[in-house]
Amino acid sequence: MCYSGTTTIGYKFVKIIVANWKMNPATEAEAAALARATDYEHVVICPPFIFLEAVAKTLQRATLGAQDLFWEGPTGPYTGEVSARELKNLGVTHVIIGHSERRLNLGETNDMIAYKVAAAFTEGLTPILCVGETADQRNAGRKETIIAEEVKTGLSRLPAACTTQSLYLAYEPIWAISTAPGAAPDKPEDTVATIGFIKQQLASLPYQPPVQFLYGGSVTPKNAADFLKYPEIAGALVGAASLNPEAINEIVYSIAGYN
Ligand code: PGA
Repeated sequence: MCYSGTTTIGYKFVKIIVANWKMNPATEAEAAALARATDYEHVVICPPFIFLEAVAKTLQRATLGAQDLFWEGPTGPYTGEVSARELKNLGVTHVIIGHSERRLNLGETNDMIAYKVAAAFTEGLTPILCVGETADQRNAGRKETIIAEEVKTGLSRLPAACTTQSLYLAYEPIWAISTAPGAAPDKPEDTVATIGFIKQQLASLPYQPPVQFLYGGSVTPKNAADFLKYPEIAGALVGAASLNPEAINEIVYSIAGYN
């Protein structure tokens, strides 16, 4: 089974900003206010599950995303989980899958992530699959091995009927995420080289869905355009700065010329 409709912005080649709010804010009123203040076209706002409905009611220009999903569904005995269908019924169109914080804190494996990507495809949600290496893996010369495994296994369960559905692959080096000790953004030219490497991995899959690439890790108004000026980089996955309306405003305007 495969969803045959269209997603909102997944198919158009526009630069997007994915606002990953993580476990913020604490109240629905704050969530609605933040959504209202960052409601721009080409922004995908990903609040915690509990605020999806309130944010959905607020948005007029931005798109609604989720930070995770469960692969079973549409309903069932899975305590604490949320299915792709349930997200879709709330107006969600995009879903972050395999964020490093879930891999590291909750033990998500590439295989679990593969089921999640497949579940998103089946319901017509656009996956934003996160990949990236830790500082230790990078220092040990294992960056490429780790990323290749994340990409190949993460995309290993795509339903054959869904091969024309698009997805985003977000390269997020874990050492670059703003909460990592001594975090600093990747060098944009290194990100482009890593995207080239990921494309080679994709070429060895049995079939190639349309993929666009995002960069994430300490993206701010100061550096967003340095990444997004590259045609290879279709957007940014923004964590800490996404909680600051002024920062989102500046990022959106700094990249407007590339859309
Ligand atoms: P950051 O987070 O922008 O705060 O570095 C990015 C992410 O974890 O998705």
